[in-house]
Order: sequence, then structure tokens, then C-alpha cells
Amino acid sequence: MRERIRNFCIIAHIDHGKSTLADRLLEFTGALSGREMRDQFLDQMDLERERGITIKLQPVRLRYVADDGQEYILNLIDTPGHVDFTYEVSRSLAACEGALLVVDASQGIEAQTLANVYLAMDQNLEIIGVINKIDLPSADPSRVAQEMEDVLGLDKEEVILISAKMGIGIKEVLEAVVNKIPVPSGEPEQPLRALIFDSYFDPYRGAISYLRVFEGTVKRGDRIRMMSTGKEFEVTEVGVFSPFMRPVEGLGPGEVGYLAAGIKNVRDTRVGDTITLAENPASEALPGYRQVKPVVFCGLYPVENSQFEHLRDALEKLRLNDASLHFEPETSEALGFGFRCGFLGLLHMDIVRERLEREYDLELIATAPSVVYQVHLTSGEVVGVENPAKWPNPQFIVKVQEPVVRAVIMMPDDYIGGVMELCQERRGLFKNMEYLSPHRVMLTYELPLAEIIYDFFDVLKSRTRGYASLDYEVIGYQDSDLVKLEILLNGEPVDALSVIVHREKAYMRARGLVERLRTIIPRQLYEVVIQAAIGSRVIARESIKPKRKDVLAKCYGGDVTRKKKLLEKQKEGKKKMKQIGRVEVPKDAFMSVLSVE
Ligand code: GTP
Repeated sequence: MRERIRNFCIIAHIDHGKSTLADRLLEFTGALSGREMRDQFLDQMDLERERGITIKLQPVRLRYVADDGQEYILNLIDTPGHVDFTYEVSRSLAACEGALLVVDASQGIEAQTLANVYLAMDQNLEIIGVINKIDLPSADPSRVAQEMEDVLGLDKEEVILISAKMGIGIKEVLEAVVNKIPVPSGEPEQPLRALIFDSYFDPYRGAISYLRVFEGTVKRGDRIRMMSTGKEFEVTEVGVFSPFMRPVEGLGPGEVGYLAAGIKNVRDTRVGDTITLAENPASEALPGYRQVKPVVFCGLYPVENSQFEHLRDALEKLRLNDASLHFEPETSEALGFGFRCGFLGLLHMDIVRERLEREYDLELIATAPSVVYQVHLTSGEVVGVENPAKWPNPQFIVKVQEPVVRAVIMMPDDYIGGVMELCQERRGLFKNMEYLSPHRVMLTYELPLAEIIYDFFDVLKSRTRGYASLDYEVIGYQDSDLVKLEILLNGEPVDALSVIVHREKAYMRARGLVERLRTIIPRQLYEVVIQAAIGSRVIARESIKPKRKDVLAKCYGGDVTRKKKLLEKQKEGKKKMKQIGRVEVPKDAFMSVLSVE
């Protein structure tokens, strides 16, 4: 049995065609009937479909009769392609023996291609090179194959050329999976060791773990033990994904499936944990994953203060399916009660915010994202500060350190100048430049994380007409001369608008900020003065002239319904504002403080 299992995943840079290939594999092996076949079955969440990105992993089991006449079970584990979700990629990789590496024939190797290959190599996976989109007129498969050989060390003769869209080369891919990916090892008689690579909460069955069995067997009715906590549960269901969840008797070595055990709390099914049996437990856990740490923080506040509890419920529900989401209550003088939330990156933050607004019908104010600063105090203490409003009094600060990333940027060589300039502007330190092929370059820079979390990627894309790709990882902390820039409205500091900036850039940022706020904050009944200050020193100032806005002015005559409509509309407009002291501030103002360009 085990000899005919293959566990693999597909890794690719965003848009190189991973989901399309997965669809084709499902279709080719008949895993979905015509009626069930939806486009891109694997990207399930609405938001994922809309944005065309994969976030959550979704395994699927395929049956394939190979050219040797044998039937194989191929477990395909999906991986996300975005830089924020590197951690999820490494999780899915650990459950596999091999990976299909998909590269777009018209683009070549991009930043996440390389990052994912490194992750796969770390896990000792067999890598099968696949060049996709050979149907495109701009496809240049031989150049891309050469790049794959030069940069990734794959044999260009063995790379498979396909068009996932047209269904060309799909069978070759399946044959390669069968013939090249190693048979999973492990014996059914050994003590159980199964790796949890994902989990989610189901209201009826409790926490469901996605798992990969390495040794032993797990069946319904077994008493299992979580090796990290020692907690025990009785298995109520085990099953496979074919492609929808289907219960089976048991799962043996090499198999991928799910398990339910009436577990009330998803945190008891920690991703990376090893499951064993209470009777005859394994002595050692499987190597897990590093704990994910959020790197980007922001405050989320309901526009209506009465929605605070609703927001708490919604965050708790989201966390059930997203263990990487962190939050804790915080209060802001300006915004009232809300939560400080931690995310893996900006995209993760955007997605969570959008889901809260959309699925839970909340209207939220998000404060500018921040990184975690290490602040060394005169008392000898070192505190992690992720909220500018909590910045210690400068009098007590000895030094400040900020997180630094190693960023890899790939692009056509015409754009080198522009990209280097951008990195310099963002306090980057040049590390390396390498040619991938005659006209494609890889630049390596060290950059403060704070400089890239907001709009770096957007600016990079616009300066390279969309041709650059970026990948980064946090590598440590560095000393930096940072100060807190405060914003005052009519003399009152607004905690939720303060930002931490580099001292040399403080003046420029202050100017940009007050100017932007002047355009964002609407005229009010009285003059509004906007100031930016470091400590008690005001370094920039703007003001907004008063104006009375009468929405009914244009409605002479007595059409009552029309008047009502206008008043309603005005009310709605108001809802999106936040009263700060006497000033009404639109909710978008709080995010805008970080845009630099
Ligand atoms: P993420 O889920 O964001 O990582 O993207 P992905 O890698 O799954 O890419 P996806 O399958 O969504 O494909 C991206 C785009 O490329 C879509 O518009 C596809 O229709 C298109 N595409 C995929 N395969 C092919 C192909 O073989 N030929 C052509 N011409 N287009 C393709």
C-alpha cells in the first residue's frame, strides 16, 4: 500500500499557475465530477478567489492509474505563493516527499520561486521542475529552463513543459510524480507519529487536524496524545480528502488525511505538533516548525464603540482558523476601546481586516501598521514596543533597535537604477547583485522592516512596471536613531495618529503628514489646526478653514423624501468619521500616516 502513495505539493511564484495546474490534476484523475468542478477548487475562501491568491492549505487525494498499470494515491498539498505566508509553505512542505516547482515560461524565476526552492531543499524534497504557460506567444521555455539549471541546479533536460490552461503535459507531470518522488517511509507496527500541518474549527465536530502519518496507524476510537501538551482525546473520525472530506477506517504510514476528536479548542491541535497513541506512545516527537511570530501590528477599533464586543467575538472566531492571528485589547484616547492585532505581514493584515468588515459586518478603523521596536531603557530593561502610542518617554531611552530584513528583488536589468534608488531612500544597505540570465538581475539588500511594511511593494511594482518580485525575511535587529512623531489636532495629541520615524526623515515626514491630513479631514464648523511635533517641538503645521456644510441648501421646494435621503446619506458619511475632541476625522486618515510618497 505505502509503496503506491506519493505526497507532493506545488510551489510557485504568485500567478505562475499553481492553482490552474492543481485543477488540471484533479480533472485528469477524475477527482471531481463535472458538476463539482469549479474553477480553482483549491482556493476556497471568497477573498482568496477574489484576490486570486492562495492562503490556506488544502490537501486533496488523487487516484491515478500510471503507465505501469498500477493505481497510485497521490496526495497533493496546496501551498500559498505570497511572501507573507512563507511559514505556511514550510508547513505543507514538511508533509511531503516531493514538490512540483512551477515557473512561468514568459517570466522565469521570481523571488518566491527561489524562496520556495530553498524551503523545499531544507526539507530534502525531490524537486520536479515544470515550465508552465508554454502556449503564450511570449513564452521562452529554453531560456527559463537554462535559468532553472543555472540558478536552481535542476537538470534542464528533465524539466517538463506544460500549459496548465490548455491541458498540455499534465500526464507527464503525473508520471513524474509517480516515478521521481520517493515512496514515503515508515512502518505500520511502530508507535504512531503523525504531524499536524494544519487545523481548523468545525462547529459540529470540534477542532479538525490535517495530518500526515509518518509511522504507525491511527483509527477511529483510538486514544491519542498530543506530544507537546500531553493532552489526550478519543478519535471520533479519521478521513481523507477525495477531494471532499470522506471518513475512512484508519490512516497508515505515508497517508495524509484529517482527524476529529471532539477537541473544543483549536489551540489543542497545535500546528507542528506530533500526535501519538496514549497506549504505546512514541518516545520522540517529529521535528515541528518554528513558532510563527507576528511582525506587523496595528490597532483595530470599531467605528461605533458599542461594537467592541462584537469585534472581540469576530476576532476569536477568526483565530480558530488562523493560529497566526494575535490580538489583545487596548485603549486609545482618540479611538476608545479596540484591539492591538499582530499579523504575519501586510497582506495578512489586509485580509483579516477585510474579513472582519465583510463577514462580520463591522466597520473598523485601522491604525498605521507598526513593527516591534526593542527599546533599551535607563533602568536596564528592554521592552518590545509595537504601538507608537506606548513609546516610552525619550528621557528614559538609552537606545532603540528595529527589525531588519534581507530582501531579495528580481527584475529585468533595465530597472536596476530605479530599484537601487528606492532601496537607498528606504535606508537600505546594498549587499549583492547577481545576473540570473543575460537580462535578469537579483539584488540583495538589508532594509529596516518598518521601511517596507507599508507601500514598498507598491512603489517597487510601479517603478518596474510590475516586473519586479520581492521576497524578504527578518534577520535581526539593528540600532537606529528613531523618534516618535506626534500629531495634534487643535492642540490635542491624537495617540492613534502617532508614528515612529527615523530622526533624519522626521521633518520631511511631518510635512507630508500634515499636508495629507489637511486634504483628508473635511472642513468643519470651526478652524482645525493640524500640527506635527517631536516631544514639545512643533515641526510642521497646517490649518483647515471652517465651513458650514448644508446638504439641504440645494433642495428648494418641499420634496420630503429627497431631503430625508440626503440627511440619511450625511449620517452615513458621519458614521465613517471619528469624533476626536471636537474634530471629525475620516476613518482612512489613521492608515494614511504611513504613506511616504
Ligand atoms: P496564486 O494562487 O496567487 O499563487 O496563483 P497561482 O500560481 O495559483 O496562479 P493561477 O493558477 O491562479 O494562474 C494565474 C493566471 O495565469 C491565471 O489567469 C491563469 O488563467 C493563467 N494561467 C495559468 N496557467 C496558464 C497556462 O498554461 N497558459 C496561460 N496562457 N495562462 C495560464
